[in-house]
Amino acid sequence: MGNIRILDEKTINKIAAGEVIEKPASIVKELVENSIDSGAKEIIVEVKNGGISYLKVSDDGCGIDNEDLETAFLRHATSKIKNEKDLESIATLGFRGEALASIAAVSKVEMISKKSDDSIGSRIEIEGGKILSKEYCGSKNGTTITVKDIFFNTPARLKFLKSPSKEGMYITEIMQNLALSHVDISFKYYLNDKLIFATKGDGDLKSVLLAIHGREVIKNLIQLNHIGNIATIKGYIGNSSIAKGSRSGQSIFVNKRYIKNKTITAAIETAYKSILTINKYPFFVVELYVNPEFVDVNVHPAKSEVKFQDDNGIFKDVYNGVKNALLSQNLIVDIQESKQNLLKEIPKIDYEQQKISIDFDMNESIKEERTIFNNNYENRKENNCVDKKKEETIYNNNVEDITKKIDDKISFKIPKFEPLTIIGQMHFTYIIAEGENELYIIDQHAAHERICYEKYFDEYKNTGIYSQSLAVPIIIDLSISEKQLVLDNIDFFKQFGFEIEEFGGNSISIRSIPVIYGNPNTKELFMEIMSILNNVNNERTNIIDKTIYTLACKSAIKAGDKLNYKEMFELIDRLRYCENPYTCPHGRPTIIKMTVNELEKKFKRIQ
Ligand SMILES: Nc1ncnc2c1ncn2[C@@H]1O[C@H](COP(=O)(O)OP(=O)(O)OP(=O)(O)O)[C@@H](O)[C@H]1O
Ligand SMILES: [Mg+2]
Repeated sequence: MGNIRILDEKTINKIAAGEVIEKPASIVKELVENSIDSGAKEIIVEVKNGGISYLKVSDDGCGIDNEDLETAFLRHATSKIKNEKDLESIATLGFRGEALASIAAVSKVEMISKKSDDSIGSRIEIEGGKILSKEYCGSKNGTTITVKDIFFNTPARLKFLKSPSKEGMYITEIMQNLALSHVDISFKYYLNDKLIFATKGDGDLKSVLLAIHGREVIKNLIQLNHIGNIATIKGYIGNSSIAKGSRSGQSIFVNKRYIKNKTITAAIETAYKSILTINKYPFFVVELYVNPEFVDVNVHPAKSEVKFQDDNGIFKDVYNGVKNALLSQNLIVDIQESKQNLLKEIPKIDYEQQKISIDFDMNESIKEERTIFNNNYENRKENNCVDKKKEETIYNNNVEDITKKIDDKISFKIPKFEPLTIIGQMHFTYIIAEGENELYIIDQHAAHERICYEKYFDEYKNTGIYSQSLAVPIIIDLSISEKQLVLDNIDFFKQFGFEIEEFGGNSISIRSIPVIYGNPNTKELFMEIMSILNNVNNERTNIIDKTIYTLACKSAIKAGDKLNYKEMFELIDRLRYCENPYTCPHGRPTIIKMTVNELEKKFKRIQ
């Protein structure tokens, strides 16, 4: 006798519920999404004990007709779509008609609802999918659902729930994203009788961000506003000050639906490349608006993923939107805001010392010295703060042919900050300079690394990296697998300026190397690039990026290198024309500044 049978309705519902309802946060998500779809202007969510024993969602939306009350809890019962065709352009958050049935199958539910046209409301009570009672009752307009004892009839699932505080955290995260994605609705969210946040529903995303993430985040946001080929990109991205060690500060909304999506995350993080340090993730709340016909929302049981018709197009639109927003910003770190507040480190001078220095100040010889300094200073100012045309002549007369080609291109670009007057070099590491109203400190290595990085990147994209022939080829001995790796990647090395030939045994001969400043150790550089190639975890774009970083890093002047004025001047000038002059390729700042106003405050000239 055969032993395959159709399961009974109750078991089917419990299995289906398992897909939709994973934890209390899934119930909150489904109920609030229903409230949003109902056209509510105000949604109140109350949660106790991580939602495991109690949660309540009430709204002032359209309400449910008395006649529809039981139907709403049946599987595949929905008012949001009518047929298969409607699936192609879904404009509501819900569409499957599964959520209420799934919730009711695994908990104890009470729903009270009233439509604004009706004079009386209705109440229904369901436990484990079974209707216990239904009656008319007094009610305000809208719907209130109370869910108690989740998974009371599926102990195996109950066991897998985390602690109430952890489950509460999941709910908070979901609530934050629901509020962020619907800024025209006022949300009030209580956890264990404590108001966690309230939003005004005034349509302003920044005010919701303030309610949820606080003032520090608000101060460090960059607005997005980009119309791409497929998607319109809106929202906010954070600067490096609010980047995190994890992806917890990231929200993506597609047509107001909170989702997770690798393509969009990758596009945003790629745009941030070389702005953030390694292991730092950007903060962002990114909204995409896409024609519903080009996006399939029916691909995940919890509706938390979507599929785009053109993933590449979405990547490009998001990348461009974020990149443009980042480039439009002046990302020079304020000395005041930088973590190591340098000026605070200066020890206070005690009164006795101060007196001595004042006495000294009155000394004639010191006064004289100061005049000399001032004269020098004025001369220097004249020498350095030349007009743009003069600057370019000095600059162009002093560069080699190869770099000139690129510099010609650079001169069409717009400088990212004002021309600076060099004051001097400190510690053979920092260039001190002044602008019209600001004092600037430039990290010479980080700045030069950025310049070299962009130069090599440009060369790589356009012509391949310029190479120089060696008078005497360098022979390098390798292991069998290393040699194979090099031979398999001859063209890759060529693009980076290395001309390589096979030499007897396990050796190779390097005939040309990339044009690099200074005197780098060729073998060391070559082996470093090989180890990038050898790392199986590196993807192709990553390999190219890392190789360019390596060339830039080896090329850049080091901390401790003494620079003359001309060198400092050229360095700053080239930095001004970089696409992103504010950080080195690893995301560390290249330049910090302080305004005259801030200096005067420090010296108590002004309050
Ligand atoms: N808060 C509410 N206000 C008004 N109507 C509601 C509310 N919650 C549920 N409904 C009605 O009950 C129906 C069933 O809800 P349910 O959440 O089960 O399905 P859905 O939202 O249509 O689809 P999905 O399963 O994708 O969420 C909805 O289509 C809607 O008509
Ligand atoms: Mg729903």
